Amino acid sequence: AYNGLALTPPMGWNDWSYYQCNISEQLILDQAKALVSTGLAKKGYNTVTIDDCWMAKSRDRNGNLVGDSTKFPDGMAYVGSQLHKMGLKFGIYEDAGTETCGGYPGSWGHETADAKRFASWGVDYLKLDGCNVPSVQGQSDEETYREEYQKMSQALLDSGRKIVFSESAPAYFQGTPDWYKILQWTPKYGNLWREGWDIALGQDNDKWSSIMANYGYNVPLGAYSGPGHWNDPDFLLAGDSGLTADETQSQVVLWAEMAAPLISSTDLTKLSPSALAILGNADVIAVDQDPAGVQGHQVYSDATYDVLVKPLAGGDKAVVFLNKSAKQQTFTIGSQELGYPAGAKLAAKDLISKTTTPFTSSVSATVPAHGTVMYRVHTTG
Ligand code: DGJ
Repeated sequence: AYNGLALTPPMGWNDWSYYQCNISEQLILDQAKALVSTGLAKKGYNTVTIDDCWMAKSRDRNGNLVGDSTKFPDGMAYVGSQLHKMGLKFGIYEDAGTETCGGYPGSWGHETADAKRFASWGVDYLKLDGCNVPSVQGQSDEETYREEYQKMSQALLDSGRKIVFSESAPAYFQGTPDWYKILQWTPKYGNLWREGWDIALGQDNDKWSSIMANYGYNVPLGAYSGPGHWNDPDFLLAGDSGLTADETQSQVVLWAEMAAPLISSTDLTKLSPSALAILGNADVIAVDQDPAGVQGHQVYSDATYDVLVKPLAGGDKAVVFLNKSAKQQTFTIGSQELGYPAGAKLAAKDLISKTTTPFTSSVSATVPAHGTVMYRVHTTG
């Protein structure tokens, strides 16, 4: 990676999907405490990111960014120091344009100063959104975004602090030919990037279709992903209403299979035991955080189900069966389709139920509606 950071996909919590602009110091620190008390922090969910709407409506008279003094009465550096005391990392949001999506001051023309300011607050992670980037005469918007993200990337490198850089640029070009051009440079300037639509907000319906849509645009993009630079299909909704336990499980399993950032955005103080178990499944997290850093890809897909394979360090493979249909079904895949030679002796450990089943020519899974089965497959001889 260009800055040596995020050699495995970033993990943590962000306020946006659940709270949008209804944020405060108290809320952020309460959620951070819950991250620690639930044990999720220890499992790797260690970065707490404050998304849009944390700022005052304008810069101070020296041009510096300042926090909203009502929402954050003790200032942003204080929040950072409290997070650090809990053993967590401090993430913050800005925008590459003149204003954030929520109408707060953007970093356009202030990249160096803003990066220094974040460093002085102890920021460890910056999400740079892409609203309100002006069109510049004589160049394409793609070039303008490239210049702007490159500027912030360099400013962070020069800031004196190691800061993970999350880019939102591709999301603003989804569905256009320039999308692929942008994906060529995002890995050079940043550690992760949003490529498309926001996941459904915490209060919305239709969360399952949103999860399937984001999975759909993210899964073909494995070529852009690797240690230090990751595709980001947006937040995990585990804990929110509107999803069955199987659907909740499926999002975490699919995100892990795609080596996606695991960033929860829900009320962690109210997590059900089931949602906590899904987010905290160490075997699934290990697939996401596997040091080989390869994004899983589809080896089979039809209207009813998909099968994905993710090669892991040391030779194991993580195999996922996704049931897209609304009824339980049993699916089978041949060992050769998983990339094994004919006659290989294999075993599949179910990473949810923890049972291990030997197999040779093919492996099956009985999968509930909208559910997934995730196997870790190893050779036995
Ligand atoms: C759009 C982004 O995609 C969201 O994740 C969030 O950061 C909002 N902007 C904030 O305005």
